[in-house]
Amino acid sequence: MKKENLPATLSTETTPKSTNENLAIKWERVVRRRSFLKGLGVTGATLSAGTLLATEGSAQTGQSTGALSTGDAALLKFAAWAEIVESDLWTQYNELGGVHGGNPAYMAALSNLDSDMPQYINDNTDDELSHAAFLNSFLLSKGEVPVDLEPFRTLQGSQATGAQDKLRLTSLLNLNVDLSWYTRYRSRENPDLGATFTGPFMITGEPAIPLNDTDTPPNQHQPVPPVTDPEKRMQAIANTAGFHFAFIEQGGSSLYPTLAFKATDPTVLRILVSIGGVEIDHFGLWHDKAGNAVSLPLAGVTDPETGVTFPNLNNPPTELTQTNKILPEPCDFISKGLPACSVIRPTLTKLGGAVATVKAFKADGLFQGQSFAFFRLAMQLALAADSARRGF
Ligand SMILES: [Fe+2]
Ligand SMILES: [Fe+2]
Repeated sequence: MKKENLPATLSTETTPKSTNENLAIKWERVVRRRSFLKGLGVTGATLSAGTLLATEGSAQTGQSTGALSTGDAALLKFAAWAEIVESDLWTQYNELGGVHGGNPAYMAALSNLDSDMPQYINDNTDDELSHAAFLNSFLLSKGEVPVDLEPFRTLQGSQATGAQDKLRLTSLLNLNVDLSWYTRYRSRENPDLGATFTGPFMITGEPAIPLNDTDTPPNQHQPVPPVTDPEKRMQAIANTAGFHFAFIEQGGSSLYPTLAFKATDPTVLRILVSIGGVEIDHFGLWHDKAGNAVSLPLAGVTDPETGVTFPNLNNPPTELTQTNKILPEPCDFISKGLPACSVIRPTLTKLGGAVATVKAFKADGLFQGQSFAFFRLAMQLALAADSARRGF
């Protein structure tokens, strides 16, 4: 693993300085800023809103910037790769369980987590498709080659009612869903400062979409709690999806900040920050919904095929398990000597960056059956993105 090499301005180490030294440094900055403004012939009084808007406009419009630097192109290309992957997996969820989905029992089991689940699945899918299409179009508009994963669309998907008969990039048929994010966001410790986390229970070898109609009949009822084995199986599959949604989107929530730190062009920074914010929005939503699979009245479902169990995490309710504690707990940030701060974590490249994302998705089972060439391209794009450095 390459050693983290953040620019000086993003150093995670805080050098202790005396109060006098700090004051001197701050004063020096004020003096420097004033002489800079004077040099421009702009004073506080004449720095009008119009001037600021004009500056913002030229910095943020696509037309005002020239070709992308190698680093900026690499950042956007990896983002495009991730969004195409997300689009593929969300499309599979949407076909079966979205608001216009085709598998009534799966939709009913998802709705047991929240009656709005099918609508949210549909809207999340739309978001990912828009992210992928926008990023590739932006790359094209800058003379870059867009990311094309079509040659890797080789995987067989679900055979259940509702799934379209087409090949996929990702597999949702046998997942190991890492649940460490559940504990991490409830803890006041931060992986960027060395903390490690395990999830509150395990989801291993579990499908997140129905496999076929024999395994889970598409028109069966889905009572709460489920009674028959096929009902239990379908509910466990829907519960897995609920946790998988949050796993994917917390990955995006960490990835985008790590990419944004490295952007040079203000428009590239704007794109990364703006799309990244939507990933965080998704994560917050799914974090809430997943909790309904592990609280009453639904808690306690066991998949009769795999033995995966969704326990009641409110029995007893602890700081690290209570299901309605979905907002990030303030945690260590930058330095353990500073006050706890409620932030996205991790945001260090080695933990949340592009290579880390590819590895996490692979460990999840998302790419089961993919070719060596698929992984080679993924790692090439990821290494290029992680190696980008901010430069002015
Ligand atoms: Fe996205
Ligand atoms: Fe996403």
